[in-house]
Amino acid sequence: MSEMPSRVELSPFTAADQDEFCSLVAASAELHHPWMQLPATPEAFHAWMTRFADGANLGFLIRVRETGAAVGVVNINSIIRGRYQGASIGYAAFAPSAGQGYMTEGLVLTLRHAFGELRLHRLEANIQPGNAASLALVRRLGFRYEGLSPAYLYIDGAWRDHERWAISAPSPWTPHPSLPAA
Ligand SMILES: CC(C)(COP(=O)(O)OP(=O)(O)OC[C@H]1O[C@@H](n2cnc3c(N)ncnc32)[C@H](O)[C@@H]1OP(=O)(O)O)[C@@H](O)C(=O)NCCC(=O)NCCS
Repeated sequence: MSEMPSRVELSPFTAADQDEFCSLVAASAELHHPWMQLPATPEAFHAWMTRFADGANLGFLIRVRETGAAVGVVNINSIIRGRYQGASIGYAAFAPSAGQGYMTEGLVLTLRHAFGELRLHRLEANIQPGNAASLALVRRLGFRYEGLSPAYLYIDGAWRDHERWAISAPSPWTPHPSLPAA
């Protein structure tokens, strides 16, 4: 998969994405429930954008190169440097274009960006045991199962158990300058 030319590209969120994003989220309510809540109003979008202000969270739209159409969203959240050099990812497809392989390709680009340019060493995805589409996605990408964490994230009004899936940087890997020398 990583060898194949990608049909999609990662486009960092900007304020100009608001209307397109909110209407795609609204159109995806059935697909996203109960796994993911994304902003569907201008107020909620504005609040969501503040999380990207300090660089600890990065957010991207996945767009089809040829048409510019937004097919999904991926976030690299809670980036921690030092001896960890890791982050967790969150993602969702938009319903009109789901199930066509775009999310898989967008996440391949996300891994490449995270382990390459960002020089992260570990990415996690935390997934509820019943979320078959998301589990299939990370399996396809080569994530490994690390265990079940009870009451791990507050989702859809309750603390939900999550499976922790993770992937480490392939070697050779160039360390980020913030990694201690020893
Ligand atoms: C999880 C989620 C992002 C997966 O999105 P998706 O659109 O199914 O992702 P993809 O299209 O890349 O998945 C590949 C599917 O497309 C199919 N496909 C069609 N054309 C394809 C192509 N050219 N290349 C690869 N796969 C292709 C695959 O067979 C696969 O379908 P299958 O697993 O049903 O057989 C989506 O279900 C979603 O948004 N869920 C709600 C939010 C959510 O749960 N987020 C994660 C929380 S942990």
